[in-house]
Amino acid sequence: MAYKTIIVEIDEHVALIKLNRPDALNALNSALLGELGQALREADANEKVRCIVLTGSEKAFAAGADITEMADKSFVEAFLGDLFAREAEAIERIRKPIIAAVSGYALGGGCELAMMCDFIIASDTAKFGQPEINLGVMAGMGGSQRLTRLVGKSKSMEMHLTGRFMDAQEAERSGLVSRVVPAKKLMEEAMGAAEKITEKSQLSVVAIKEAVNRSYETTLSEGLLQERRLFHALFATEDQKEGMSAFVDKREAQFRDK
Ligand code: HXC
Repeated sequence: MAYKTIIVEIDEHVALIKLNRPDALNALNSALLGELGQALREADANEKVRCIVLTGSEKAFAAGADITEMADKSFVEAFLGDLFAREAEAIERIRKPIIAAVSGYALGGGCELAMMCDFIIASDTAKFGQPEINLGVMAGMGGSQRLTRLVGKSKSMEMHLTGRFMDAQEAERSGLVSRVVPAKKLMEEAMGAAEKITEKSQLSVVAIKEAVNRSYETTLSEGLLQERRLFHALFATEDQKEGMSAFVDKREAQFRDK
């Protein structure tokens, strides 16, 4: 499928999706969000793909939703059109892991998109922010909820209310990103993490993604119960037998997703 606003490359078992609107710092317009949703769904359905990496350019992961496209929208259009809801839900439904490799600006919808991924690896040039307040609006694709859960109320509130950007070091200290790497090594590190995941049993991978994500949605006791059920279920798999006997035999496990 030929896309206009993103570039998709399948490298072995990793789908690399690159946001590609360089003239607008990868601002998220409806064409880009539509293509991104489709590419993610295709990667999720492609049996060869075992992990997805989402990235932007060196200067910007994405500088937010496209302001020129939103500027003239009325309340009725935003409300009845359920602005950004379908796009967000499409990303939330992906079952394979998505790693965000963030360099430069991840602002507004760009920060929210990165937070929708399963973890973020940031270059030392990354800048995160929710500056919608400067436009007379507020976060609309999960920022007020996800940033608050990730970095706590105080930092999240300050960032949303003042529009202040957070640099990569602060983002790592605060738990927004899993780690910071030199800009030149960003893609190597992100692809390396993705390749590690591709070597695991997809049964464990999908169960882990589900269990960790449940921790945001439910009580501790319900989450613990779900984790235990998934953990127990994995004992029904050949990959559990293979993983544990490989350890005992001191050899590499050969997982077959069975
Ligand atoms: C449309 C954008 C854009 C955006 C940048 N551009 N951000 N176009 N929507 N969000 C365009 C600029 O207009 C400019 O186009 C080109 O990209 C380069 O940007 P510059 O501003 O010239 O670059 P620079 O001076 O380096 O400043 C970078 C920046 C700034 C600090 C990131 O562009 C900026 O503040 N952008 C807006 C950030 C923002 O407010 N994001 C939140 C959006 S609202 P031309 O044609 O002039 O060269 C949002 C709502 C989320 O995300 C709700 C749910 C999704």
